[in-house]
Amino acid sequence: MSIPTRVKLVDVGPRDGLQNEKQPVPAAVKIELVHRLQDAGLTEIEVTSFVSPKWVPQMADNAAVMAGIARNAGVRYSVLTPNLQGFEAALKSKPDEIVVFGAASEAFSQKNINCSIAESIERFAPVVQAARAAGIHVRGAMSCTVGCPYEGVIAPERVSYLAGLMKGIGVQHVGVADTIGVGTPLKVQRAMEATLKHYDLNDVSGHFHDTYGQALANTLVCLQMGVWQFDTSVAGLGGCPYAKGATGNVASEDVVYLLHGMGIETGIDLDKLVDAGKFISDFLERKPNSRAATAILNKRLN
Ligand code: HMG
Ligand code: MG
Repeated sequence: MSIPTRVKLVDVGPRDGLQNEKQPVPAAVKIELVHRLQDAGLTEIEVTSFVSPKWVPQMADNAAVMAGIARNAGVRYSVLTPNLQGFEAALKSKPDEIVVFGAASEAFSQKNINCSIAESIERFAPVVQAARAAGIHVRGAMSCTVGCPYEGVIAPERVSYLAGLMKGIGVQHVGVADTIGVGTPLKVQRAMEATLKHYDLNDVSGHFHDTYGQALANTLVCLQMGVWQFDTSVAGLGGCPYAKGATGNVASEDVVYLLHGMGIETGIDLDKLVDAGKFISDFLERKPNSRAATAILNKRLN
């Protein structure tokens, strides 16, 4: 399998990135971030989630954020929907894609969405059916595909099992997530191979948190398998409130730098992306968690 010549990134910063922030981020700031990401050339943005505000207060302004975005025709705006209640609320915001999110680990499924893997599939099934009937694309996120904060190592068979269940209920695309960023290239490769038993190469993506600094290496191994879709987060924001100790997703800026350096097209303007990351980092009063962004910002000072 040859390395792809073009890669699509889904920036999950507004959702995965901000969901973990303790301080409330005003809807206007989230909207501005989405605008900056689309201006930088992102064609897929994970905007928010329609989950319980008691579980994730930061996402309580989901409808306001979706309503405030000046949409670009070429951009797909996605939202997370864990159940029919979330889907019905999301529908009013007219998302282009919804994301159901399950886990390869039983313990994480319980902690994150308060049900077993089997129960989660039962909850997702009517959501998937309703979304597809409404012409909305359905993506599935598969958490803890290499390691779980509660169960430790996760075998590829667990990933294959979950991917098969997702396929069985009509989920069109699945993301292989290393939720706590413990994966290394061969482990991630095995999780991806387990997924590819059920899904076509064009219908899978990588979603790597960078807790142990392995996410770029994990991205590279997937590129070598021909995988051409990845979730990344501007300024390396992110984490899951139910995965203690896990840091953000791999920074979009770092992945774009890697891809452009390899001659792989993304359609993204790295300078504008760095500006978007600086914007949200300034608001959060911290530096962007991206080596490439830091280098580019330092270079601008000279
Ligand atoms: P539950 O308590 O089992 O739900 O939570 P329930 O059906 O028993 O309902 C209990 C209450 O929640 C009721 O309200 C419902 O109305 C409300 P009450 O009567 O007590 O006032 N409720 C909702 N409210 C708003 N939106 C909804 C909704 N559903 C029920 N959709 C539930 C189940 C799934 C809702 C809960 O566990 C939850 O919200 N979990 C969200 C967890 C989350 O957002 N985690 C982060 C995203 S996943 C992630 O980050 C991983 C990913 O990045 C990939 C990776 O890195 O691994 C995607
Ligand atoms: Mg995540």
